[in-house]
Amino acid sequence: MTAFQPRVFSGVQPTGNLHLGNYLGAVSRWVPLQDQMPTIFCVVDSHAITAGFPDPVELSEATREVTAAYMAAGIDPTKSIIFNQSQVREHAELAWIFNCVARMGWLSRMTQFKEKAGKNKENASVGLFAYPNLMAADILAYRATHVPVGDDQKQHLELTRDIAAKFNNDFGERIKELGIGVPNPTPSPELPEQLYFPLTEPMIAGPATRIMSLRDGTKKMSKSDPSDLSRINLTDDSDTIAKKIRKAKTDPDALPSAVEGLADRPEADNLVGIYAALGGLSKEDVLKDFGGQQFSAFKPALSELAVAKLSPMTDEMRRLMDDKVQIDSVLKDGAEKASAIAEPVLKDVRRIIGFLDVR
Ligand code: TRP
Repeated sequence: MTAFQPRVFSGVQPTGNLHLGNYLGAVSRWVPLQDQMPTIFCVVDSHAITAGFPDPVELSEATREVTAAYMAAGIDPTKSIIFNQSQVREHAELAWIFNCVARMGWLSRMTQFKEKAGKNKENASVGLFAYPNLMAADILAYRATHVPVGDDQKQHLELTRDIAAKFNNDFGERIKELGIGVPNPTPSPELPEQLYFPLTEPMIAGPATRIMSLRDGTKKMSKSDPSDLSRINLTDDSDTIAKKIRKAKTDPDALPSAVEGLADRPEADNLVGIYAALGGLSKEDVLKDFGGQQFSAFKPALSELAVAKLSPMTDEMRRLMDDKVQIDSVLKDGAEKASAIAEPVLKDVRRIIGFLDVR
């Protein structure tokens, strides 16, 4: 190989309902990538047990639901590999090896761990601490070069690059000796001549695509928010979507006619942002039409657009959820295709490390 084969990898956890933030911030942005390079979209069920084991029946249902959402949003199983993480053993195996590459200090700096573990770090699972190593393994088991994620995952991707760089360096001579890997076009004291893992490029969705809570424009829309009114779930019907938008928090002023007028108005900014993202418009465009109008006029328009854009997808999701056989067969086929890529990578990695292969 003379260069890394371009490849996209991304994933969503099957915990709770998927919501508008997952759709606009992640899955909808993956759809066009399918026509640009090989793409792998994973339902990361092994990550979903790091913050406590969910109810087993709910975990498998949520795994199917995320799969249905991928497909309803336009991820096409004939173009992309769609599978659930736990079905491909190589993720867990590579994560173990990365546990021995990554340093305690690196992981101790992860803000997501600090947030999720909260005050009681002693009681957090070891899996929650090692979560980013598993994420690095997800990506690097396919030697993926591009990873589209929200900006909350930026630090985890930097860690993935650090792991790849350390592995490449620690085994630089060995990788060259075995004649595997890819020549490094710019060797340096930091990176050797021959690389086994790519330094993955983050494709970060900026804050503009970050969808905030409908009840508090300063907090991200989240499946863990106790108020269901704070988010639009991809399983909500039209009436529920309309109700949630009607009840969304706003301020008393009319909409501004320029984007600068949205500063310090987080709820207004969020609703305009949602309108823009759903309509494929910029916030400027939206304010050209709605600047000077009251929320009492804007909200019904937003509702109508949200229902028009989301209901074909949610209908399709419901249809797919009724056809578990189809979903499971997509996942099975995906797992087989994913294994076919990850197995030879792990074979190489075992050889690089020096694990004795007797089978
Ligand atoms: N940690 C990601 C999130 O919470 C999900 C994830 C797991 C992921 N493995 C991944 C995303 C690999 C991209 C690539 O959003």
